[in-house]
Amino acid sequence: MIDFHTHILPEVDDGSTDAQMSLALLKQLNNQGVKKVLLTPHFYAYASSAEVFAERRETSVQELLNELKKDPVDIELYLGCEVLYFEELWRVESLKDFAIRGTEYILVEMPFAPWSENMVRGVEKIIGKGLTPVIAHFERYIKYKGNREKLYEMLEMGALLQMNCKYINDFKTRRRAIRFIKSGAVFAIGTDCHNLSDRAPNYEESVNILKKKLSNSEFKQLMSKPNTILKDAKRIY
Ligand SMILES: [Fe+2]
Repeated sequence: MIDFHTHILPEVDDGSTDAQMSLALLKQLNNQGVKKVLLTPHFYAYASSAEVFAERRETSVQELLNELKKDPVDIELYLGCEVLYFEELWRVESLKDFAIRGTEYILVEMPFAPWSENMVRGVEKIIGKGLTPVIAHFERYIKYKGNREKLYEMLEMGALLQMNCKYINDFKTRRRAIRFIKSGAVFAIGTDCHNLSDRAPNYEESVNILKKKLSNSEFKQLMSKPNTILKDAKRIY
């Protein structure tokens, strides 16, 4: 099982605050049955340049790998980031460096507001550069008027959708989550975990619910989809 969205890398964003916490998060996920984790720290182009972010992320990776040397965890790690969309994102020269390492897939966070037609075109331009955007926690945007239609447009253009475990675990949204999954629209699920308290790994709860609400083949299909990306990705641990 794969966690496709995490803030486990230490001291690089608002997620894990040190390498010990990162290790504890990985152990929790491991105990919840997760075998592969995609590391996706926030990249905000308005806050730092692509070069500065890349450097900080690399330092953080080394810190985590050092910790794992002392205390190994039976889990595979892959490197990516969660890039906040902005109109000129497609123009960023080093955009490919922000894709999941070894692949052409890039996790993109969209604005939490009604989207403009320009945003659909912006996503199209990213696709035009040979990258496939995976829209992070897509369920969090569709409450805004008009976004659902634009999201489907992006899906038709080839974008993929990632859903957070919380949407499945929350009783109020569970039925909607299951409907989306059964429709085949969901490419991957992720915990989007940030810490050990209010945004802790919540993968197992989702799995228990999904095993009840989905058929065997639906469950297997959902869990295997992100493997099509990760089989080509560069494993960093
Ligand atoms: Fe996130």
